[in-house]
Amino acid sequence: MKGLYCIVLAAGLGTRMKSGLAKVLHPLAGRPMLMHTLENVLALKPEKTAVVIGHQAEKVKELLPRGVAPALQKEQKGTAHAAGVGLDVLRGADGVLLLVSGDTPLLGAQTLKGLIACHKRKKADITILTALIDEPFGYGRIVREDGKIKKIVEQKDASPSELKLKEINSGTYCFNIKSLKQALRHVRSANAQGEFYLTDVVEIVKRKGGKVAGMPVEEPMSALGINSRAELAAAEGEIRARINRRLMASGVTIIDPENTYISAEAKIAPDTIIHPGNTIDGRTEIGGGCILMPGNIISGSALGAGVIAKGYSVIEDSKIADKAQIGPFAHLRPGSVVGADARVGNFVELKKASLGEGSKASHLSYLGDALVGRNVNIGAGTITCNYDGFSKFRTVIGDDVFVGSDSQFIAPVTVGKGALIAAGSTITKDVPQDALALSRTPQVNKENWAKENRSRKKK
Ligand code: UD1
Ligand code: CA
Repeated sequence: MKGLYCIVLAAGLGTRMKSGLAKVLHPLAGRPMLMHTLENVLALKPEKTAVVIGHQAEKVKELLPRGVAPALQKEQKGTAHAAGVGLDVLRGADGVLLLVSGDTPLLGAQTLKGLIACHKRKKADITILTALIDEPFGYGRIVREDGKIKKIVEQKDASPSELKLKEINSGTYCFNIKSLKQALRHVRSANAQGEFYLTDVVEIVKRKGGKVAGMPVEEPMSALGINSRAELAAAEGEIRARINRRLMASGVTIIDPENTYISAEAKIAPDTIIHPGNTIDGRTEIGGGCILMPGNIISGSALGAGVIAKGYSVIEDSKIADKAQIGPFAHLRPGSVVGADARVGNFVELKKASLGEGSKASHLSYLGDALVGRNVNIGAGTITCNYDGFSKFRTVIGDDVFVGSDSQFIAPVTVGKGALIAAGSTITKDVPQDALALSRTPQVNKENWAKENRSRKKK
């Protein structure tokens, strides 16, 4: 947007968080709080954006995308002082300044655009984004006289009657840059917190005959300022609710939206049913008609159509083809590939393993660094011994192989197509196609030995 400059305030520690981590670095929906605000601001394509940093400045600076200028506020003397530090970095800026706090991450780009439009329409010196809320505790209150904004009074400086006001300052404003610069020179710190309040510029500008306008947000929740962990949780809940509402509107069934945790980047096709307690992280893609029973954690993975995850499975950076069944209690570690109609059952762990179409590993197995073909049956308790304490080795199992229960493959080893591994075998050598591999010691039965042993012990 031409003639638009932005400042994001992010220098405070956030004392009320009671944390060693600067407030704007606290994760919200999987990424630092500041990134949400910054994304919305940058969507407006400002001429230049400055982020005021102070507490843990180095860490905050690392997050800033290219083209965003850091403005170092060495001492946190208040929001007016912070705005001045930001303006110093935006040297030569003239026109409209959009100023937002790094701790109001729910304000969307559309709302910010609306504020700028309102500011221009009203030809105001300051336009404050306000919100009408039932529990205004902690926020600066908008004091009006004959309907017009007179001043903003902070919670700690407010009189009992001002504390009853329900219109609050969201901490987001549009300023005429010249008017703001002038007003900032007159801000003093004679208040309950001994800080230079940005909110004081309202009275200063009015005194000089300037125009102050207000624009209430449509959705008051979007003005939520995060000062405490409880507010952080409320913001998380709101983001989650927005994502879930969008997915439900697009045809996904979510049985209990309050207990379903889906990242903003996840894509889920219609007619998939998601039971409570599922966490779907990162850029996971899930096809249509899947059923996710309760309690799965799925991250960075791709699931085809009609996949059934039977619950309590962990699926990381893996691919699962159409109609495969996973779990309950399966663990797909990074690099795993499960073919169409294949099954990975309870207490089965896959790591960099690929299970071909129609193959089954139904119980208690570990398949690591393994390439398993189609229609293979992996018996219960099968283990690929892929690690010798130094290096990892691969197991290759061809199509149509039957692996009896409790077998071990000492990798590297290759089993040819159609072979049969007898239950309880330890496979140390390659097995030819269609062969039977058997490595059990012959069984010895000693008649009456157990009975005699018992009577010996009794004596
Ligand atoms: C501020 C407003 C209040 C408003 C509320 C909305 C002031 C005086 N008060 O109060 O009217 O209702 O936001 O959420 O502005 N910061 C700096 N440098 C500083 C001080 C603060 O960069 O020296 C940053 C903080 O990191 C934060 C933002 O400015 O991101 C707001 O500061 P905070 O202390 O949270 O202000 P509030 O008390 O919430
Ligand atoms: Ca705040």
